[in-house]
Amino acid sequence: MLTMARHRDVILLTVIVLLTAGCLQDVCGRAVPHHHRRGDRVGRLQNVTLTNATLSRMAHTGGELSLEGCEIEHFTPALFGLLQRTGCLTLRGGYIPAVTFHSHTLDTLVIDATGLKTFEIVASAVPYEKLRILHITRTGLERLTGRLALLVGLKRLDLSQNQLTHVDLGVLGALIRLRDLDLSVNRIVRLDAPAGLQLPGLRNLWVSYNRLRAFGAFPGAFPALDTVRLIGNRWHCAWVDRARADIMRHGITAFGADYDCPAERQGGLCCFDDVPASGEEQSTTVGVVEESDQSNAGLANGDLTLRETNRSTVPIGVRYGNVEIFL
Ligand SMILES: *[C@@H]1O[C@H](CO)[C@@H](O)[C@H](O)[C@H]1NC(C)=O
Ligand SMILES: *[C@@H]1O[C@H](CO)[C@@H](O)[C@H](O)[C@H]1NC(C)=O
Ligand SMILES: *[C@@H]1O[C@H](CO)[C@@H](O)[C@H](O)[C@H]1NC(C)=O
Repeated sequence: MLTMARHRDVILLTVIVLLTAGCLQDVCGRAVPHHHRRGDRVGRLQNVTLTNATLSRMAHTGGELSLEGCEIEHFTPALFGLLQRTGCLTLRGGYIPAVTFHSHTLDTLVIDATGLKTFEIVASAVPYEKLRILHITRTGLERLTGRLALLVGLKRLDLSQNQLTHVDLGVLGALIRLRDLDLSVNRIVRLDAPAGLQLPGLRNLWVSYNRLRAFGAFPGAFPALDTVRLIGNRWHCAWVDRARADIMRHGITAFGADYDCPAERQGGLCCFDDVPASGEEQSTTVGVVEESDQSNAGLANGDLTLRETNRSTVPIGVRYGNVEIFL
């Protein structure tokens, strides 16, 4: 009896240790960086104006460094240079409007709610292979630098909750290890991709809560895709028809479902057949659809009604009841 009780205690303790370890990992980009070993200290600096001097003091702690509520106009390549021993760098809150990345040693970089406006990367003849995880979230970032292509080691790229409007997926073509791409909760009206683009390792793609009408590269550019989040956009119904068929054919799991659609609801995704009044938006929509999918060329000829009345009612691979969670 006593033995059993002790056994149970051991199990309980193990669970607690695992949970605690899970929470610690969460601080460092929700994954276990290679460098992260038991006993590594988390250096923390709060509410200071960053200078060479303040950062140098922290540089010796190694492992994980978290700068919270700190201020500096520009987090320069020189500051990255001071952090040769740091594996995981978090910039959270405070005011850091510009960051110019330059590090061949960082594993994880998290920039969260820092008022970021510009993110650049130093041109380098040697690509940045070490950085596996990059999160830029809850900032004012409006455009992506083409030099993202230099971050060839990236496995996870989280760009959710920014103010991106146009994203060219072509810059991600060189990131052959990229597994997770989160572009949700931005203002994206166009997701462009050069013809023939392939992101061969991509498993999880989130583009929910944007202003997309169509997404021509989906799913052809993502041969290994497991899950997708598409809800909360302005999808054209013809695009939803095609996507639904593709989702079923490729066995992709589509998470989430739109509720309270102002227009017609189709298998969990709201879609809109109104031809936009503004000439600019109209040409954008038609252009995207035409360049990506010739079979939708009928859109340009106003033959939407025919498509609508003959829409299949087969349910798509959308799982109802999954809730989008934003932190
Ligand atoms: C930094 O500022 C935050 C918010 O103003 C406050 O909660 C925190 O206690 C401060 N930390 C230090 C070390 O002053
Ligand atoms: C900070 O250090 C870098 C080199 O480590 C140097 O180039 C730069 O001038 C220094 N900045 C200040 C303000 O001292
Ligand atoms: C559309 O459906 C109607 C019946 O609902 C049918 O008469 C018509 O032939 C269909 N058109 C096409 C193009 O499949």
